Order: sequence, then C-alpha cells, then structure tokens
Amino acid sequence: LGLLRRVEAYLGEYLPQKSSTKESFSDVSLSRSSSNCSIATDEGLFEVPEPLSSSKVVTGKILWRRSLQLRDQQQAWQESCEGREMLEFRRSLPAYKEKDAVLAAISQNQVVIISGETGCGKTTQIPQFILESEVESVRGGACSIICTQPRRISAMSVSERVASERGETLGESVGYKVRLEGVKGRDTHLLFCTTGILLRRLLVDRNLKGVTHVIVDEIHERGMNEDFLLIVLKELLPRRPELRLILMSATLDAELFASYFGKAQIIHIPGFTYPVRTHFLEDILEMSGYMLTPYNQIDDYGQEKMWKMSKQAPRKRKSQIASVVEDALKAADLKDYSHQTQESLSYWNPDCIGFNFIEYILYNICEKERPGAILVFMTGWDDISSLKDKLQAHPILGDPSRVLLLACHGSMASSEQRLIFDQPEDGVRKIVLATNIAETSITINDVVFVLDCGKAKETSYDALNNTPCLLPSWISKVSAQQRRGRAGRVQPGECYHLYPRCVHDAFAEYQLPEILRTPLQSLCLQIKSLKLGSISEFLSKALQSPELLAVQNAIEYLKIIGALDENEMLTVLGRHLTMLPVEPKLGKMLLLGAILNCLDPILTVVSGLSVRDPFLTPFDKKDLAEAAKSQFSRDYSDHLALVRAFERWKVAEKVYAGYDYCWKNFLSVQSMKAIDSLRKEFFSLLKDAGLVDANTIDHNIWSYDEHLIRAVICYGLYPGISSIVHNEKSFSLKTMEDGQVLLYSNSVNAREAKIPFPWLVFNEKIKVNSVFLRDSTAVSDSVLLLFGGSLSRGDTDGHLKMLGGYLEFFMKPAVADMYECLRSELDDLIQSK
Ligand code: CDP
Ligand code: MG
Repeated sequence: LGLLRRVEAYLGEYLPQKSSTKESFSDVSLSRSSSNCSIATDEGLFEVPEPLSSSKVVTGKILWRRSLQLRDQQQAWQESCEGREMLEFRRSLPAYKEKDAVLAAISQNQVVIISGETGCGKTTQIPQFILESEVESVRGGACSIICTQPRRISAMSVSERVASERGETLGESVGYKVRLEGVKGRDTHLLFCTTGILLRRLLVDRNLKGVTHVIVDEIHERGMNEDFLLIVLKELLPRRPELRLILMSATLDAELFASYFGKAQIIHIPGFTYPVRTHFLEDILEMSGYMLTPYNQIDDYGQEKMWKMSKQAPRKRKSQIASVVEDALKAADLKDYSHQTQESLSYWNPDCIGFNFIEYILYNICEKERPGAILVFMTGWDDISSLKDKLQAHPILGDPSRVLLLACHGSMASSEQRLIFDQPEDGVRKIVLATNIAETSITINDVVFVLDCGKAKETSYDALNNTPCLLPSWISKVSAQQRRGRAGRVQPGECYHLYPRCVHDAFAEYQLPEILRTPLQSLCLQIKSLKLGSISEFLSKALQSPELLAVQNAIEYLKIIGALDENEMLTVLGRHLTMLPVEPKLGKMLLLGAILNCLDPILTVVSGLSVRDPFLTPFDKKDLAEAAKSQFSRDYSDHLALVRAFERWKVAEKVYAGYDYCWKNFLSVQSMKAIDSLRKEFFSLLKDAGLVDANTIDHNIWSYDEHLIRAVICYGLYPGISSIVHNEKSFSLKTMEDGQVLLYSNSVNAREAKIPFPWLVFNEKIKVNSVFLRDSTAVSDSVLLLFGGSLSRGDTDGHLKMLGGYLEFFMKPAVADMYECLRSELDDLIQSK
C-alpha cells in the first residue's frame, strides 16, 4: 500500500499525461550527463530538478514547454483590462514593494523569514512572486510550491483569491488541498494546503521529492502542527539543499525562528494601516452617555448625558439600555478598577457583558456611524450561533434589507465562507461574527468597526493531573493588537474592546504555544508514523519543548490503548489510527465500529464527542432539562442517549428542521446539525482509508445491538474507567488515580439510584473541586475484559498488567481469572482466523 501511495504521489505530482509525451520538441535541445540533465534553450541552460533527472528527459521538455505557456498566459492576462486592474491592486500592497528583496533572499538563503502586518500581502503575494520568478527563468514548469495554512478555510479562500489574481480558475497553476477536499490539476505549481496535509504527505514522501519551496504561513500562531512541521523540516533541509523554506509571520518575533534555524535571513515588510481609534469598556460606556461610576455618584454631566440618551432612545428600548449598562457597570467591579495586575483579570467577569451589550453597540453603529463592515470577535462557534440567533430576532439588525449578518468560524461550509468576502449592496451593513480565525489568516476587506470580546477558546492541558480542557481564556496583547488592526484596512477605523483597559494591561504578551498546552497523544502517534525515532528525543528538538511529564503521559497512554508496544513501536492498531486524523480514542471507536459493522451509531457517538454538548442545561430549567435527557436513556449511558436523541431528531428534522423537537427536549439544533455533518465527514475518512464500503452507513441504521455499542465505546474510552461501588441506597464511583469521583449532574447516570453494572467508562474527567466525570456508559465485566485496552495480540502483557492492576485494586480477583480465560480463548480465535 505504501509503495502504491508513493507511486501515485509521484505520478500525480510530476508526470504529465501520456498524450503530451508524444508531442515533438524541435525548439529545445537536450544534454545529459551521468548525474543530471539539463535543457538548452534560447534563454540558457535549464537544469531539470532532482526527481526528473536522467530518465525523465521527456518530462523535462514538457515542463519547459509548459513554463513558456504559463508565461504567455500571464502576459496576456496582465495586458487585459481586468488583469491590469488586478496588477495595480497587487502593486499597491506593501509586500509588492519588497518583491526584489524577497526573491533575492530566497535565492541566497535556504531559510527566509518574512514578517509583516496582516493584510500586507504575505499570503497572496509571496508565493506568487516565487512562481512568477520561476516562470520567468523558464523553470516554472518544474517548480512546486507548497504553502501551508493553519486552517482549511484560509487554504481555500486564499487559493481562490490567488487564482483570481492570476486570471485563472482554481486547479490551473494554483490549487488547494484540505482534508477531504481539494482542487488541483496537472499544471498546478502552487498548492495551498493545511499543515496537516503536508504532514500526511511527509508520511509517504519523506524528502518531499519534487517540492521546490515550502512556505509555512502564520507561524506566529504557534499551532502544534506548525511547531511539529518545523522540527521535521529542520531535519529535512540538510538532505535537500536545493529546497527553500519560507516562514511567514504577522508579528515581529522573527528572531526566535531565525535562531532556531541557525542561519536565516529576516525580511520585514513595513505595513501601512490607517489609524484605529481604540475604545475600552470605560470609553464605550462614557460615549453612550454613561460614566463608569456607580449610580449614586453620577455627576451632573453624566446625568445630563444619560437623560439625553434616554430621550433619544425609543421608549421601548429605554429600560433595555438601562439594564444593559447596569450589567456592564456591575461587571466592571469599580473598586478594583485601578488594580493593574494579573489579579484584575479575575475580578472582571466578561460573561456579564452579555449579548445585550453587544447588540446595543451594534445597533448604535448601524444607526449612527458611517458605512463600513463590522467584525465581531467572539469566543467560539457556540457563542457565535447564539448571538446570531439573538440578532436575527432584532427589528433592525435582523432585517436583511439593512444588515447582512454572517458568521465566520473554522468549521463552516465552503459555500458559507465565500459570503464573508462579498460586498453587500449599498445601504446594507455587513456584520461578521467571527472567532479568532479572522485575526490574521482571513482578511475581510471592508471592515471599519471591530468589536473584541477579549477571549478565545484555547485548549489547555494539565500534565500533572493528565487532564485536558478547552476553555475560553484571555487573548494576548499581540492578539488584541491584531484584532484592532483589522479595523484600519481601508480607512480610519474604530475598535471597541469589551473589557476595561486594566484588563488589557494584564494580558500576557504572547500566547503560549499549543505544543505546551495540549495533550500530545496524537502528536506522538504522528512522530512514530513518520519514523522519526524516539518521541522524547524528537520533541526535545522543538522550538519550545513540552514538559517531559506531558510527553511521558502521552506515550504511556498510547501504550495502554495498544497503539504503541512496550518498545514504543507502532502496533498495527497504531498504524491504522495514524490514518484517521482524529483523537486516538475516537479513531479506535471508528475502527471497531467499522469492523463490527455497527458504524452508524458509533458515528453519532464520535461526532457527539467532537461538538459542544447537544444536551442543553439552562440554569433556570436544570431539572426539566435533565429529565428531558433521561427520557432518551434506558441503559445507563450518556452516549446511547445521544444516539437515540439524534436518531429521533433525524426523523423530526424533516419537519421545520426539527426546531420544535429540539426545543421540547432541550437539545441544541446547532449541535445536532454539526453532528449530522461530522458523521458524513468521519464516514468519508473511513471510506478513504478503505475500511468501509460506500453504502455501509445506510445498512445498519435502527438495527444495532446496544451491547455491541457499549463494547465499542469501552474500547475507545479505556483506560477511562471507574468502578461502581454499590451501597444500600445508592452508589459511589472510584478511579484508581483519583479515589472518589463524582458525575456531572447532567449525566443520565447521575439520576439513577442503582446501576446494574460494575464499571463506568467515561469520556472525560475534569477537576473543579472534586473530580467530575462527563459522559459515561456503564459496562459489564466481560465487556471491559474483552474490549478494555487493545485487541492486538502484541501487548497482552502490558494490558494485563494495567487491567490486572485495576482488578486487584478494586478487589475483583474472580474477574481477573475470567480475564485470563477469555484472553487465551480470544487469542486462539484470532490465531485461527
Ligand atoms: O497574508 P497577509 O495577511 O499579509 O495578506 P494577504 O492575505 O496576502 O492579503 C493581501 C490583500 O489581499 C488583503 O489586504 C486584501 O485586500 C486582499 N485579499 C482579498 O481581497 N481577498 C482575499 N480573499 C484575500 C486577500
Ligand atoms: Mg496571511
């Protein structure tokens, strides 16, 4: 299979279609020495790059021909009316002025680092400069530039933009590739892809054969994949001296990267942005006619303004505005306002700056300010969709003839993405609700107003407790500055930070790199699959190395689940897991679900674990919500409750998209829709990996065995197990590491008095005061014995030790005997098959 892949990659990348090899080339002559091959042309000698050497002479000729075509084509485009306009636009970008410097640096250095403000033209221009200069030197036909983007949405939108700047459609000289999607033709020389795609290519093609330039974009974000890629590339560079590496960053921390690579030239593109007026919360309140002073101390001036405001505002809104500001005042705890320390972050609770306040500011801008799009930075997808629902119900903000309301986040569909770049009709104001994706990687051209809530969802990881969390946390000063900068792209802008200045002053300078704050299991698996040697040794070569404990935890986990053997080598299971770009535990469920032919419900479980909890628990209706959830459960499993809720939603969905159904059952429509689309995505992943047929998904809807699902869930979630200790009236839970643990109140198991099973497997444990388990499923001894750990034969010992430890710990020796019995039977069974 590996060989086949390599052959395919080779064919796809380098070899032209058969028909063209028959063409004759009278206009070039070829010379060939034993080691390399060059083509003599009018314009000098053109050396055929490495993968095309010796036997691929014909290919070289074709590439040369194509290069000429490409050049003619560009010339024609640039002479056309549209092309001239586009060229003019490109020339106006700050990056264009540095074109020569950039190209010179690239020709003289293997590593070049380019920094420049967002929007200055790094992503769209630099790859084009390289392509154009290669074409000019008649080597364009052979150049292959890969430009990585941290997110799929930017890879797609940027490639489309670049193609249109070149007067082409996607798939000619410019293409893109993201997971499960891509447009790329045989003449594609510039490929925008996600970092993950390049890493996967390295799996089958360690030397990146035929690639002439790798551009790693947005390195300032310090995503885990990018940091990982940099280690791999750093090792690759000496093996491929002709390969060029270009790193691009929106901030000025280029020295860090330069010193990492030892020798690298740094180029800074001086930017140009219009001035942006900055308003912190206190300024916003004051502008609205309210001073940031307690009510009883409002001075005459403030009162007068307040009175004016109330008078202008329509009657109905008066009380609304008052309550909004009251909220904000309460939140900005006044007595601690002068505290310019880290502590002030904890005094300030942004949740009090609710959606009412945002709606109020948006309304004011729409009513009173000059034209220009508004960009609102929100925490995450869930916030965005709730705010969007709220705004849509507003008489003005929800009126499509006055406001074009759009969302922009990483998981949206491609058709949706395009809308955010469109110019609305005259008199219509565009409002884009975005995550931090719009901070640097996506440029929305016409933004004049920015609202910044100051937070972003960030994964963090507590190595000591081995507990991951995904929580909204404060952004860094650099991020705040980036967000501000988005307002000044086309004219002077305004930025409203929805937090006081003292909170901003307490922000960290930079965000912690992802590699230091996330669990490393998937990364470790990738290191192994790329055959990069010892995991900890490899990770010690990172720009900033993760804690040793975090690395050890990850390796230990991978051994326990059977992805690595005792010697840290990939097992068969491990190899399969690397093919699925999901967390190992989800990958395990998908694999076993496919093997045991019960994929449909497992797709729902896995998708459900990847989105925000679809079961809503509003504060004031907690009991009702929990009762609603428990009606989906008959079998002591949150996961099975979700499967049932989803299946009923699928039926209800045909009527009004299932809104009614969701409303009655306290389910989130957005999460249900997200699950629906993720299911499809996971399914095509499995199909691509050759693990299922195209039609398996329809086969087993409605007809699955709940015990089987329980087994698959156990297989994935192991070693997340807790023992159920029954006492007279109720039960308690224990895990080996934490002792007594508790269930989240919205778990269906939390409502049970007794659970007729000895074990609970859980998806996640989170430490608040006590340790809480989230999403659990009860399983029997035999399920745990057979499906806890790995089914692969190699690691029986390690597994036995671990499980044996558990059984001993919980004093269940009889079960341990049973285990050995079952195990040997299973081994025989596998052997005989
Ligand atoms: O990468 P960097 O942030 O430096 O800028 P860029 O993404 O290359 O964008 C350069 C300019 O191209 C932006 O300022 C936009 O004016 C324009 N652009 C656009 O109009 N549409 C896009 N999809 C992307 C960029
Ligand atoms: Mg960019």
